[in-house]
Amino acid sequence: SLHTVTTLPTQRQPGCPFDPPAELTDARRHSPISSYTFPGGKPGWLVTGYDLVRSVLADSRFSSRRELMLHPTIDYGDIEVPPAPPGEFLLMDEPRHSRYRKPLMGKFTVRRMRMLTERVEQVTAEHLDAMEKAGPSVDLVTAFAKPIPAIMICELLGVPYADRGSFQNHVDSFMDGETSDEDLMAAYTATQEYLAELVAAKRANPTDDVLSDLTDSDLDDEELKGIALILLAAGLDTTTNMLALGTFALLRHPEQLAALRADPALVDGAVEELLRYLSVAKTFQRTALEDVELGGHTIKAGSPLILSFHTANRDPERFPDPDVLDIRRKATGHLAFGHGIHQCLGQQLARVEMRVAFPALFDRFPTLRLAVPADQVPLRPEIADIYGVKSLPVTWDV
Ligand code: HEM
Repeated sequence: SLHTVTTLPTQRQPGCPFDPPAELTDARRHSPISSYTFPGGKPGWLVTGYDLVRSVLADSRFSSRRELMLHPTIDYGDIEVPPAPPGEFLLMDEPRHSRYRKPLMGKFTVRRMRMLTERVEQVTAEHLDAMEKAGPSVDLVTAFAKPIPAIMICELLGVPYADRGSFQNHVDSFMDGETSDEDLMAAYTATQEYLAELVAAKRANPTDDVLSDLTDSDLDDEELKGIALILLAAGLDTTTNMLALGTFALLRHPEQLAALRADPALVDGAVEELLRYLSVAKTFQRTALEDVELGGHTIKAGSPLILSFHTANRDPERFPDPDVLDIRRKATGHLAFGHGIHQCLGQQLARVEMRVAFPALFDRFPTLRLAVPADQVPLRPEIADIYGVKSLPVTWDV
């Protein structure tokens, strides 16, 4: 039988900051796929079960093209959405997608990202020093979770040190789900302008970074700018929220945190489990390019689909006791980085950052704890693309 979801929830259940909204979990309990009516009345689908989400991600009959997407919660009427600008390959299908992803692959290998480990250690230690001086009470988001991924991306792209402050300010207002449309446009324009200058500078004077490397290829300036923008948009907010929400989750699960502290060898597994359990990149969309049979239903050509990565990663058929945070479980195979041709390009970098940052933080501050009651930690609304905390007030004994 066909289960129907009529609206997407705008917030989570009180007291459950780490769990998907109850409406989505209920939908998955009924069926791994439900019908969903997009605002404006267009019929579509909501996919919540692990196997089905994974199979959609692996199937080229489901498109990522921006011009085919419908906003999941806002009716923009008949406004025509243009295709993704050059370089913004997250929202493209083959062969456009490969033109950009291929030359980038070699820059993000496991080996290359391991080489960055030492640099991540250094940057992390500097921020822990600053926290120690500023403390014993700080907002972990501004002091730790934001700057570490930002510095790593800036170094990857070759953003000069002097430009980082203003650059970060533009990028900051991008993704919190609360910035007004007007401010969003202004921030977007300022970032675009900055990146155009940066690309021109790298062409004139190549330095040792990904953007400079790419000036050797046949990609033009517009394309390089688009690539830089997509790396920023995909790589900053995601990692920041994993670090902050991950710390929050560990502080709320003291027995898990104690186990991690007692045995540093558990850190790789703990990072995978936090990725699965928190799934900060909670939903993505696809559009059917032709009629497709999926989970006993016919998805008509042109139908939009919402894929819920978070409920897929909490599917009991794939992960036993899925709502339990268990850093010893084998969480591999989770979909927190997606799957298929768009699977996260920056996942090795994100892993290195988390594998270094979590243990260093808990080592430096053995008594780290929330500085406010847990139910007063301000959470992002569900409409934000990436879930997380707005701030995380923490304190420790000196
Ligand atoms: C794609 C999650 C960190 C760059 C994706 C996708 C997910 C994801 C779910 C697939 C989207 C889809 O299928 O439509 C995450 C999470 C991160 C993270 C949870 C942090 C914990 C990063 C970092 C970078 C990055 C650090 C860059 C340095 C990208 C890019 C894509 C992508 C470029 C598009 C790949 C493509 O379309 O081929 N990410 N990401 N991500 N991510 Fe990440």
